[in-house]
Amino acid sequence: MEPKNGRSPPARNGGRVARLKAAVLISGRGSNLEALAAACAAPGFPAEVALVISNRADAAGLKKARHAGIATQIIPHGGFKTREEFDAALSAALAAAEIDLVCLAGFMRLLGEDFVARWRDRLINIHPSLLPAFPGLHTHERALEQGVRIAGCTVHFVRSAMDDRPIIVQAAVPVLPGDDADTLAARVLAAEHRAYPLALKLIAEGRVRVVAERVEISGAGTPAGTLLNPPD
Ligand code: GAR
Repeated sequence: MEPKNGRSPPARNGGRVARLKAAVLISGRGSNLEALAAACAAPGFPAEVALVISNRADAAGLKKARHAGIATQIIPHGGFKTREEFDAALSAALAAAEIDLVCLAGFMRLLGEDFVARWRDRLINIHPSLLPAFPGLHTHERALEQGVRIAGCTVHFVRSAMDDRPIIVQAAVPVLPGDDADTLAARVLAAEHRAYPLALKLIAEGRVRVVAERVEISGAGTPAGTLLNPPD
């Protein structure tokens, strides 16, 4: 990640490399939050989940965060007159916690242009499709309707358009005979739990740059093989 107005990871701090401070924004279950927190708990991981914010007090992910010892805040969107006021409260909470990177993980509120601009290249999202295919809601139903044979997920930097790009990491899984939206969602979710921690790690290691709205990753290996569906 390129230095912007904020802090730029990883910073040297008295001989130690400071870990990137991530916040995770959720609205519900929080399984991606759990995957990110678990990755961060591994020795030597270059990032920490320093804060979890939910716009819903009943989000199951809040319990998971507390269980992992992560600070939580609830900022109910209903408590604000306008989207801009809600976004400003979010920004203030993130800035107060000195957050370097904001990770949307099932955060089901659209963020306004000012928020997106303020956190540009420090705001990432995971979406359960191989973008640019199937942005928005009911992703798996639409993928099945279209008869795609490969599905997957995408981690991307957030811009004003929903579920857009620049793309950081994608993971692909096969669509299997007899799949319904639930079985496909579960297979994609397992891939999400690998893709999101990988994206966080790459960013925290300072290996991700946005150049002309495409992501360049330094020192990335070459993926092996081809996912054929059906297999030959
Ligand atoms: C995940 O599948 C994530 O990709 C999706 O919401 C789910 C949240 O699950 N996000 C979107 O559809 C964003 N457009 P989780 O709360 O268990 O992480």
